[in-house]
Amino acid sequence: MRPEILNTRIFLDGADPEETRRVIKALGFLDGQTTNPSLLAKNPEAQSHKVDGNKFSAKAIYQFYEKLCQELSGLLPDGSVSIEVYADETTTVAAMLEQAREFDTWIKNAHIKLPTTTAGLEAANILTGEGRRVNMTLVFTQAQAAAVYAATKGAARGAVFLSPFVGRLDDRGENGMALIADILKLYAGGDRHVEVLTASVRSMEHFLCALAYGSDIITAPASILLEWVEAGMPIPGSTYVYEAPGLKPIPYEPLSLDAPYASYAIGHPLTDAGLAKFAADWNSLIDMAS
Ligand code: E4P
Repeated sequence: MRPEILNTRIFLDGADPEETRRVIKALGFLDGQTTNPSLLAKNPEAQSHKVDGNKFSAKAIYQFYEKLCQELSGLLPDGSVSIEVYADETTTVAAMLEQAREFDTWIKNAHIKLPTTTAGLEAANILTGEGRRVNMTLVFTQAQAAAVYAATKGAARGAVFLSPFVGRLDDRGENGMALIADILKLYAGGDRHVEVLTASVRSMEHFLCALAYGSDIITAPASILLEWVEAGMPIPGSTYVYEAPGLKPIPYEPLSLDAPYASYAIGHPLTDAGLAKFAADWNSLIDMAS
Protein backbone atom coordinates (compact mmCIF):
# COMPACT_ATOMS: atom_id res chain seq x y z
CA MET A 1 0.00 0.00 0.00
CA ARG A 2 1.02 3.59 -0.53
CA PRO A 3 2.64 4.93 2.69
CA GLU A 4 0.45 7.70 4.14
CA ILE A 5 3.32 10.14 4.58
CA LEU A 6 4.57 9.71 1.00
CA ASN A 7 4.17 13.04 -0.81
CA THR A 8 6.27 12.13 -3.86
CA ARG A 9 4.66 10.31 -6.80
CA ILE A 10 6.46 7.12 -7.75
CA PHE A 11 6.86 6.17 -11.41
CA LEU A 12 8.42 3.12 -13.03
CA ASP A 13 11.12 3.75 -15.63
CA GLY A 14 10.64 0.98 -18.17
CA ALA A 15 8.83 -0.31 -21.22
CA ASP A 16 7.69 -3.82 -20.37
CA PRO A 17 4.07 -4.25 -19.20
CA GLU A 18 4.93 -7.53 -17.45
CA GLU A 19 7.43 -5.63 -15.32
CA THR A 20 4.79 -2.97 -14.62
CA ARG A 21 2.41 -5.66 -13.38
CA ARG A 22 5.11 -7.06 -11.07
CA VAL A 23 5.90 -3.62 -9.65
CA ILE A 24 2.24 -2.73 -9.05
CA LYS A 25 1.79 -6.05 -7.25
CA ALA A 26 4.88 -5.52 -5.07
CA LEU A 27 4.24 -1.84 -4.22
CA GLY A 28 0.47 -2.02 -4.04
CA PHE A 29 0.37 1.22 -6.07
CA LEU A 30 2.17 3.01 -8.90
CA ASP A 31 1.59 6.61 -9.96
CA GLY A 32 2.91 6.46 -13.50
CA GLN A 33 5.50 5.23 -15.95
CA THR A 34 8.19 6.81 -18.09
CA THR A 35 9.33 5.25 -21.36
CA ASN A 36 12.07 6.25 -23.79
CA PRO A 37 13.56 4.80 -27.01
CA SER A 38 16.37 3.01 -25.14
CA LEU A 39 13.87 1.33 -22.82
CA LEU A 40 11.65 0.49 -25.81
CA ALA A 41 14.62 -1.21 -27.48
CA LYS A 42 14.99 -3.39 -24.34
CA ASN A 43 11.32 -4.50 -24.40
CA PRO A 44 11.36 -8.33 -24.77
CA GLU A 45 9.15 -8.34 -27.88
CA ALA A 46 11.21 -5.58 -29.51
CA GLN A 47 14.38 -7.50 -28.64
CA SER A 48 13.11 -10.65 -30.32
CA HIS A 49 12.44 -8.65 -33.49
CA LYS A 50 16.04 -7.45 -33.43
CA VAL A 51 17.48 -10.89 -32.75
CA ASP A 52 15.42 -12.45 -35.61
CA GLY A 53 16.68 -9.72 -37.90
CA ASN A 54 12.97 -9.09 -38.46
CA LYS A 55 13.07 -5.36 -37.69
CA PHE A 56 10.08 -3.01 -37.62
CA SER A 57 9.16 -0.83 -40.56
CA ALA A 58 9.21 2.92 -39.85
CA LYS A 59 5.40 2.74 -39.49
CA ALA A 60 5.27 -0.50 -37.50
CA ILE A 61 7.52 0.82 -34.74
CA TYR A 62 4.96 3.53 -33.95
CA GLN A 63 2.19 0.88 -33.96
CA PHE A 64 4.23 -1.22 -31.55
CA TYR A 65 4.85 1.81 -29.27
CA GLU A 66 1.14 2.68 -29.40
CA LYS A 67 0.09 -0.83 -28.37
CA LEU A 68 2.63 -0.79 -25.55
CA CYS A 69 1.48 2.61 -24.23
CA GLN A 70 -2.14 1.52 -24.39
CA GLU A 71 -1.32 -1.53 -22.30
CA LEU A 72 0.59 0.61 -19.76
CA SER A 73 -2.22 3.15 -19.68
CA GLY A 74 -4.70 0.34 -18.97
CA LEU A 75 -2.55 -0.74 -16.01
CA LEU A 76 -2.26 2.87 -14.76
CA PRO A 77 -5.65 4.44 -15.59
CA ASP A 78 -5.26 7.13 -12.91
CA GLY A 79 -1.56 7.69 -13.50
CA SER A 80 0.58 9.19 -16.21
CA VAL A 81 2.42 7.49 -19.07
CA SER A 82 5.29 9.41 -20.67
CA ILE A 83 5.72 8.81 -24.40
CA GLU A 84 8.88 10.17 -26.01
CA VAL A 85 9.00 11.77 -29.45
CA TYR A 86 11.66 10.57 -31.87
CA ALA A 87 14.11 13.41 -32.22
CA ASP A 88 17.64 13.89 -33.43
CA GLU A 89 19.50 17.16 -33.90
CA THR A 90 17.74 17.78 -37.23
CA THR A 91 14.18 17.16 -36.03
CA THR A 92 11.98 20.20 -36.59
CA VAL A 93 9.40 21.68 -34.25
CA ALA A 94 6.70 20.65 -36.76
CA ALA A 95 7.87 17.01 -36.66
CA MET A 96 7.76 17.00 -32.86
CA LEU A 97 4.28 18.55 -32.86
CA GLU A 98 3.00 15.98 -35.32
CA GLN A 99 4.22 13.08 -33.16
CA ALA A 100 2.97 14.69 -29.94
CA ARG A 101 -0.54 15.27 -31.28
CA GLU A 102 -0.64 11.69 -32.57
CA PHE A 103 0.56 10.27 -29.21
CA ASP A 104 -2.20 12.21 -27.48
CA THR A 105 -4.77 10.21 -29.47
CA TRP A 106 -3.27 6.92 -28.25
CA ILE A 107 -4.15 7.27 -24.56
CA LYS A 108 -5.91 9.72 -22.25
CA ASN A 109 -3.11 10.05 -19.70
CA ALA A 110 -0.05 10.83 -21.85
CA HIS A 111 2.75 13.22 -20.97
CA ILE A 112 4.66 13.89 -24.19
CA LYS A 113 8.41 13.69 -23.69
CA LEU A 114 10.32 16.35 -25.57
CA PRO A 115 14.05 17.04 -25.47
CA THR A 116 15.11 20.21 -23.68
CA THR A 117 16.56 21.76 -26.83
CA THR A 118 15.64 24.89 -28.73
CA ALA A 119 13.14 22.97 -30.89
CA GLY A 120 11.83 20.98 -27.92
CA LEU A 121 11.15 24.16 -25.92
CA GLU A 122 9.29 25.73 -28.81
CA ALA A 123 7.21 22.56 -29.20
CA ALA A 124 6.49 22.58 -25.45
CA ASN A 125 5.38 26.19 -25.62
CA ILE A 126 2.89 25.36 -28.40
CA LEU A 127 1.68 22.06 -26.93
CA THR A 128 1.04 23.42 -23.42
CA GLY A 129 -0.78 26.34 -25.09
CA GLU A 130 -3.08 23.68 -26.61
CA GLY A 131 -3.68 22.29 -23.11
CA ARG A 132 -1.49 19.21 -23.64
CA ARG A 133 0.87 17.67 -21.07
CA VAL A 134 4.62 17.48 -21.56
CA ASN A 135 7.63 15.92 -19.86
CA MET A 136 10.81 17.83 -20.68
CA THR A 137 13.65 15.37 -20.77
CA LEU A 138 17.47 15.34 -20.89
CA VAL A 139 17.74 18.17 -18.34
CA PHE A 140 21.22 18.78 -16.92
CA THR A 141 21.23 22.46 -15.86
CA GLN A 142 19.31 25.06 -13.92
CA ALA A 143 19.19 27.25 -17.06
CA GLN A 144 17.30 24.46 -18.84
CA ALA A 145 14.91 24.24 -15.88
CA ALA A 146 14.31 28.01 -15.95
CA ALA A 147 13.74 27.91 -19.73
CA VAL A 148 11.16 25.10 -19.37
CA TYR A 149 9.40 27.10 -16.66
CA ALA A 150 9.29 30.19 -18.87
CA ALA A 151 8.23 28.28 -22.02
CA THR A 152 5.28 26.62 -20.31
CA LYS A 153 3.96 29.52 -18.23
CA GLY A 154 0.19 29.39 -17.91
CA ALA A 155 0.05 25.57 -17.97
CA ALA A 156 -1.97 23.90 -15.23
CA ARG A 157 -0.14 22.23 -12.35
CA GLY A 158 0.42 18.61 -13.34
CA ALA A 159 0.71 19.42 -17.04
CA VAL A 160 4.48 19.92 -17.09
CA PHE A 161 7.15 17.57 -15.79
CA LEU A 162 10.85 18.40 -15.81
CA SER A 163 13.22 15.43 -15.88
CA PRO A 164 16.75 16.13 -14.61
CA PHE A 165 19.00 13.09 -15.24
CA VAL A 166 20.93 12.58 -12.01
CA GLY A 167 22.78 9.36 -12.90
CA ARG A 168 24.26 10.73 -16.09
CA LEU A 169 25.67 13.73 -14.19
CA ASP A 170 27.16 11.38 -11.59
CA ASP A 171 28.70 9.39 -14.45
CA ARG A 172 30.82 12.38 -15.34
CA GLY A 173 31.76 13.20 -11.77
CA GLU A 174 29.12 15.84 -10.97
CA ASN A 175 26.65 15.49 -8.11
CA GLY A 176 23.36 14.93 -9.94
CA MET A 177 21.34 15.11 -6.72
CA ALA A 178 22.66 18.64 -6.14
CA LEU A 179 20.93 19.65 -9.38
CA ILE A 180 17.62 18.38 -7.96
CA ALA A 181 18.11 20.48 -4.81
CA ASP A 182 19.07 23.51 -6.94
CA ILE A 183 16.03 23.23 -9.23
CA LEU A 184 13.62 22.73 -6.32
CA LYS A 185 15.08 25.89 -4.77
CA LEU A 186 14.80 27.79 -8.06
CA TYR A 187 11.19 26.69 -8.56
CA ALA A 188 10.25 27.54 -4.94
CA GLY A 189 10.18 31.16 -6.11
CA GLY A 190 7.67 30.33 -8.86
CA ASP A 191 4.04 29.28 -9.23
CA ARG A 192 4.85 25.53 -9.10
CA HIS A 193 3.32 24.79 -12.50
CA VAL A 194 6.37 22.64 -13.36
CA GLU A 195 6.87 19.47 -11.34
CA VAL A 196 10.34 18.05 -10.81
CA LEU A 197 10.63 14.40 -11.88
CA THR A 198 13.95 12.94 -10.72
CA ALA A 199 15.14 10.66 -13.54
CA SER A 200 18.17 8.55 -14.42
CA VAL A 201 18.02 7.08 -10.92
CA ARG A 202 20.73 4.44 -10.50
CA SER A 203 20.77 3.63 -6.79
CA MET A 204 18.71 3.41 -3.62
CA GLU A 205 20.69 6.43 -2.37
CA HIS A 206 19.44 8.50 -5.33
CA PHE A 207 15.89 7.33 -4.65
CA LEU A 208 15.98 8.07 -0.90
CA CYS A 209 17.68 11.41 -1.44
CA ALA A 210 15.03 12.47 -3.98
CA LEU A 211 12.35 11.57 -1.40
CA ALA A 212 14.17 13.56 1.30
CA TYR A 213 14.59 16.61 -0.96
CA GLY A 214 10.86 16.53 -1.78
CA SER A 215 11.05 15.84 -5.53
CA ASP A 216 7.48 15.96 -6.86
CA ILE A 217 7.97 12.69 -8.74
CA ILE A 218 10.68 10.02 -9.00
CA THR A 219 10.99 7.55 -11.84
CA ALA A 220 13.11 4.52 -11.07
CA PRO A 221 13.91 1.14 -12.60
CA ALA A 222 11.96 -1.86 -11.27
CA SER A 223 15.04 -3.19 -9.45
CA ILE A 224 15.21 -0.07 -7.25
CA LEU A 225 11.47 0.05 -6.58
CA LEU A 226 11.54 -3.61 -5.53
CA GLU A 227 14.59 -2.96 -3.32
CA TRP A 228 12.64 -0.12 -1.67
CA VAL A 229 9.72 -2.46 -0.98
CA GLU A 230 12.12 -5.06 0.48
CA ALA A 231 13.49 -2.37 2.82
CA GLY A 232 9.95 -1.59 4.06
CA MET A 233 9.41 1.54 1.91
CA PRO A 234 11.46 3.94 4.10
CA ILE A 235 10.78 7.66 3.61
CA PRO A 236 13.67 9.71 4.93
CA GLY A 237 13.05 13.13 6.39
CA SER A 238 14.85 16.41 5.83
CA THR A 239 17.73 15.31 8.08
CA TYR A 240 18.75 12.64 5.55
CA VAL A 241 22.39 13.00 4.62
CA TYR A 242 23.32 12.14 1.05
CA GLU A 243 26.91 11.03 0.67
CA ALA A 244 28.30 12.06 -2.69
CA PRO A 245 31.89 10.88 -2.42
CA GLY A 246 34.15 12.23 -5.13
CA LEU A 247 31.30 14.04 -6.91
CA LYS A 248 31.75 17.70 -7.78
CA PRO A 249 29.10 19.98 -6.23
CA ILE A 250 26.79 21.91 -8.58
CA PRO A 251 26.43 25.41 -7.08
CA TYR A 252 23.03 27.11 -6.99
CA GLU A 253 22.46 29.82 -9.63
CA PRO A 254 19.84 32.44 -8.74
CA LEU A 255 18.24 32.60 -12.22
CA SER A 256 15.17 34.62 -13.14
CA LEU A 257 12.11 32.58 -14.11
CA ASP A 258 10.67 35.53 -16.00
CA ALA A 259 13.00 35.97 -18.99
CA PRO A 260 11.82 35.04 -22.52
CA TYR A 261 12.33 31.28 -22.79
CA ALA A 262 14.52 31.52 -25.88
CA SER A 263 16.95 33.80 -24.02
CA TYR A 264 18.34 31.12 -21.66
CA ALA A 265 21.65 29.41 -22.49
CA ILE A 266 20.30 25.87 -22.61
CA GLY A 267 23.02 23.97 -24.47
CA HIS A 268 24.63 21.03 -22.67
CA PRO A 269 26.84 18.24 -24.08
CA LEU A 270 24.88 15.55 -22.19
CA THR A 271 21.64 16.74 -23.80
CA ASP A 272 23.26 16.42 -27.24
CA ALA A 273 24.74 13.00 -26.42
CA GLY A 274 21.44 11.80 -24.91
CA LEU A 275 19.50 12.89 -27.98
CA ALA A 276 21.91 11.02 -30.27
CA LYS A 277 21.73 7.85 -28.15
CA PHE A 278 17.91 7.86 -28.02
CA ALA A 279 17.79 8.34 -31.80
CA ALA A 280 20.29 5.50 -32.34
CA ASP A 281 18.33 3.13 -30.08
CA TRP A 282 15.08 3.96 -31.90
CA ASN A 283 16.75 3.47 -35.29
CA SER A 284 18.26 0.15 -34.16
CA LEU A 285 14.73 -1.26 -34.16
CA ILE A 286 13.91 -0.15 -37.68
CA ASP A 287 14.61 -1.79 -41.01
CA MET A 288 16.01 1.28 -42.73
CA ALA A 289 15.14 -0.18 -46.16
CA SER A 290 11.42 -0.17 -45.25
C1 E4P B 1 13.29 8.72 -17.77
O1 E4P B 1 12.38 9.46 -18.09
C2 E4P B 1 14.62 8.78 -18.36
O2 E4P B 1 14.55 8.67 -19.76
C3 E4P B 1 15.51 7.72 -17.75
O3 E4P B 1 15.39 7.79 -16.35
C4 E4P B 1 16.95 7.83 -18.19
O4 E4P B 1 17.73 6.92 -17.45
P1 E4P B 1 19.23 6.52 -17.84
O5 E4P B 1 20.09 7.71 -17.69
O6 E4P B 1 19.57 5.43 -16.86
O7 E4P B 1 19.19 6.04 -19.27
